[in-house]
Amino acid sequence: EQAGKGEYDHFMLKEIHEQPTSLTQALEGRIDPENGRIALSDFEPGTFADVESVQLLACGTSYHAALYGSLALNQAGIQSTALLANEYSVSAPPIDDETLVIAVTQSGETADTLSALRQANAAGATTVTVTNVVGSTAAREADETLFIRAGPEIGVAATKTFSSQAVMLLLLGQCIAADHHGEPPADLETLLPALATMPDAIDGLLETSEADAIAEQYAHSQSYFFIGRGLGFSVALEGALKFKEITYEHAEGFASGELKHGPLALVTPDTPVFAVFTGEEDEKTLKNAEEAQTRGAPVVAVCPDDHRAVDVADEHLSIPETAPDLAGLLANVQLQLVSYHAADLLDRPIDKPRNLAKSVTVE
Ligand code: G6P
Repeated sequence: EQAGKGEYDHFMLKEIHEQPTSLTQALEGRIDPENGRIALSDFEPGTFADVESVQLLACGTSYHAALYGSLALNQAGIQSTALLANEYSVSAPPIDDETLVIAVTQSGETADTLSALRQANAAGATTVTVTNVVGSTAAREADETLFIRAGPEIGVAATKTFSSQAVMLLLLGQCIAADHHGEPPADLETLLPALATMPDAIDGLLETSEADAIAEQYAHSQSYFFIGRGLGFSVALEGALKFKEITYEHAEGFASGELKHGPLALVTPDTPVFAVFTGEEDEKTLKNAEEAQTRGAPVVAVCPDDHRAVDVADEHLSIPETAPDLAGLLANVQLQLVSYHAADLLDRPIDKPRNLAKSVTVE
């Protein structure tokens, strides 16, 4: 097992560092930045021409990637909802033959997600699985499959598969929008070059990250809060999930604007707030973070160096400038590192947290 970890102490850290490679593999032959095109040959052109609405189904970290993809679809003018697969049997929205259902599952074997996928298939939806595992049950049972090509992920806490899922959902969303509207979405011109430079951007971030120092500073706090808006909200949820999974400390993610509707009652000098800035009404998120700061909470801003939040926050985790749709994924890498280093300081069994399994095959 040690041999598989290479120079790293844990698979999780190795897999965090593999993200430049896993994203390069995910994008290989699928984007053509010079000609401003997506070349997603996984699907016949026009496959999604009749799609009027999209439901994304997933659990755990994959649900956060689904939320990311769903918001990007809505921004591209396609009505879309991310749903917890384990809630689907009791709360599925109506399906008709213009509904596309996307199952997002790293393993392709999560029982809750398979059950929801089967329900959607039976209801007559067109189904797509976004997965890492060729030959998995979800890949076999959906009408179409999009492989994220992240390579094996051993750590129970998903890292590189999250970023690859989110990026592939962004691409798939652009394809759906292009088929639906009959022309490529307007922001493709900025998205494609930024996607092509994502692996280098993550490499740079990994080299310079100060997440270890931040983790050390706050490793013995009472609770950890993560806030963000828009795509940044899904990143806040994922940041908190990662943190609780591997540190065993209490962590919660909130939409920035929700902080004042309840969670603020929990804020004290002993509850650091990680604020994710993704360029989506950042002024409002900054105001929300300041409300926590006024109550004594230290604020860690996750944003580019020249962002106004840097002057306001107590601490800063830097992300490179990128296209709006991708800032959250860079912020997420910083938060993965914070969780990893905090868990390491607390001496947790990082790759195999208690009570959790890599793939949950019972409902
Ligand atoms: C388990 C894992 C999580 C994962 C979830 C969904 O709970 O511990 O890390 O996000 O399953 O897994 P999937 O394979 O469907 O993406």
